[in-house]
Amino acid sequence: MAKRVLSGMRPTGKLHFGHYHGVLANWLKLQNEYECFFFVADWHALTTDYANPSNIKDNIREMVIDWLSVGIDPSKATIFRQSAIKEHAELHVLLSMITPLPWLERNPTYKEQIEAIKEKDLLTFGFLGYPVLQTSDIIIYKANKVPVGIDQAPHLELSREITRRFNHFYGEVFPEPETLLTSIPKVLGTDGRKMSKSYNNSIFLSDPPAEAEKKMLTMMTDTARKKRTDTGSPDLCPFYQTFHSLYSDEKTLEWVKEGCTTASIGCIECKKSVIPKVLAALEPIQLKRRELEADPARIAEILNEGTKKASAVARETMTHVRHAMGLE
Ligand code: TRP
Ligand code: SF4
Repeated sequence: MAKRVLSGMRPTGKLHFGHYHGVLANWLKLQNEYECFFFVADWHALTTDYANPSNIKDNIREMVIDWLSVGIDPSKATIFRQSAIKEHAELHVLLSMITPLPWLERNPTYKEQIEAIKEKDLLTFGFLGYPVLQTSDIIIYKANKVPVGIDQAPHLELSREITRRFNHFYGEVFPEPETLLTSIPKVLGTDGRKMSKSYNNSIFLSDPPAEAEKKMLTMMTDTARKKRTDTGSPDLCPFYQTFHSLYSDEKTLEWVKEGCTTASIGCIECKKSVIPKVLAALEPIQLKRRELEADPARIAEILNEGTKKASAVARETMTHVRHAMGLE
């Protein structure tokens, strides 16, 4: 039997190039190689946005449209919403009984986020328990592999420890999920920082071509090139590192390196050598988006189908779990 892969994303709304090259490109490969479950982690969104959940429905819709638009295929992968499968919550409660508090408190991601996000009060039970809920998401489908970026690796390690502890107490119910470490290319935003919705520096998959082009033309370059006659270095140029690296062929890359370091080309000319390729890549994605936007019933249908499949697996697992724990 094909190994099972599971991954989730918090619903943050429309997705950008960072999501595409960091996550979705990988999912597109995986859906051809494994039995895949891809879900919308809407309860996880509430761990940080509990005070302001009004956008959640729109965010889910926009994100799922982007998944489908780039080619995530419901005939290959099972697509659903976490909150539609109540068994995740039941398993979360049971796992919370066996998860030692210090494991959660020493989680590096937890400490970092508390430090980084000062504008929200994250000292909640739910936020501390984020990895416990994530563990239940994974093992309820007996997933073998979980593709995540390096930043999520500590969560996965915690999931493996919680799984071992469960199996130790109640018998071998769950396979230990393996981390499928995704190498994430550097996708920088228009200001040169990591592309992120919260930095307001993103180029979205759904940006109209004129807007995407404008964002790229004004994107930060090597700051050494203040004047047209200043030489620069592609290695220090956010535009180059993101768009040339991902979309230009070898010949163009050579031309850029030579032209930038000798100031024989300007930044606008340099950018214009790749922008059409980026826009061409967006075109089929946006065509698919328009189709889906015109047919909201189709999205509901896809999520319903996915929910049915996921639910059957989750229900069966919970029967084993209750049995193993002596609850049934
Ligand atoms: N924590 C993940 C993120 O922030 C989302 C997520 C929730 C997830 N549950 C998961 C990812 C289970 C992989 C497996 O993107
Ligand atoms: Fe970046 Fe190109 Fe300008 Fe060099 S010429 S700084 S690579 S945009």
